[in-house]
Amino acid sequence: MSINENMREQFKNPQGLAGKIATTILNKQNERPYQGAIKSLALQDNEVVAEIGFGNGYLLERLAHDYHCLFYGIDISADMVELANERNDTFIKEQRMFLKVGDALKTGYENDFFNKVFTINTVYFWDDLELGLQEMYRILKTNGIFVNGVYTKEFLDTLPVANEGYIKYSLEVLKAVGLKVGFREVIINEVIKDKAYSIVYQK
Ligand SMILES: C[S@@+](CC[C@H](N)C(=O)[O-])C[C@H]1O[C@@H](n2cnc3c(N)ncnc32)[C@H](O)[C@@H]1O
Repeated sequence: MSINENMREQFKNPQGLAGKIATTILNKQNERPYQGAIKSLALQDNEVVAEIGFGNGYLLERLAHDYHCLFYGIDISADMVELANERNDTFIKEQRMFLKVGDALKTGYENDFFNKVFTINTVYFWDDLELGLQEMYRILKTNGIFVNGVYTKEFLDTLPVANEGYIKYSLEVLKAVGLKVGFREVIINEVIKDKAYSIVYQK
């Protein structure tokens, strides 16, 4: 397997030591998208919040330090759930954070449960964008928001690691599918011009 194929697998479904290293690299590379998501989320204490595809749980840890919310999350990789649980051990013991293995398309959460749901750089790996956005809509309370942090198709096209295995969407498609599944408004916030955006879907 080439280095690019290996990295791609680790970004899509991180496993073991290589997954730990890959997600630590992502923490550094994704600082601006994280900041974009934090701004779009505008969390307030006591909200019920979920992250989809949290990787090593770095951003959840930051948020849980700063906001007294209830945090939930799923990731498709059991190794990442273990890593994120270790990292967030204190919050988990305090019963402020609940993490489990799960798929964005079928989260297992109740209807109308969250004030806010977010994901950073995972939609490229979802099996079906429309089903995934439908699921985000289902688990949000009325007036809740889903924040989707993405790199643009044009930027991903410049990365050798993303030349296979990534489903790259235009911002227009990400917006149109959100409206199609029922979100009443979709706002595209620029994080880094032409490169990174934080899309806010309003239920
Ligand atoms: C590129 S990493 C991003 C991790 C983290 N969001 C970040 O930005 O640092 C993608 C993460 O999404 C997870 N993932 C991929 N497909 C998923 C799916 N269908 N449902 C839930 N998680 C998924 C992977 O296991 C991995 O942890």
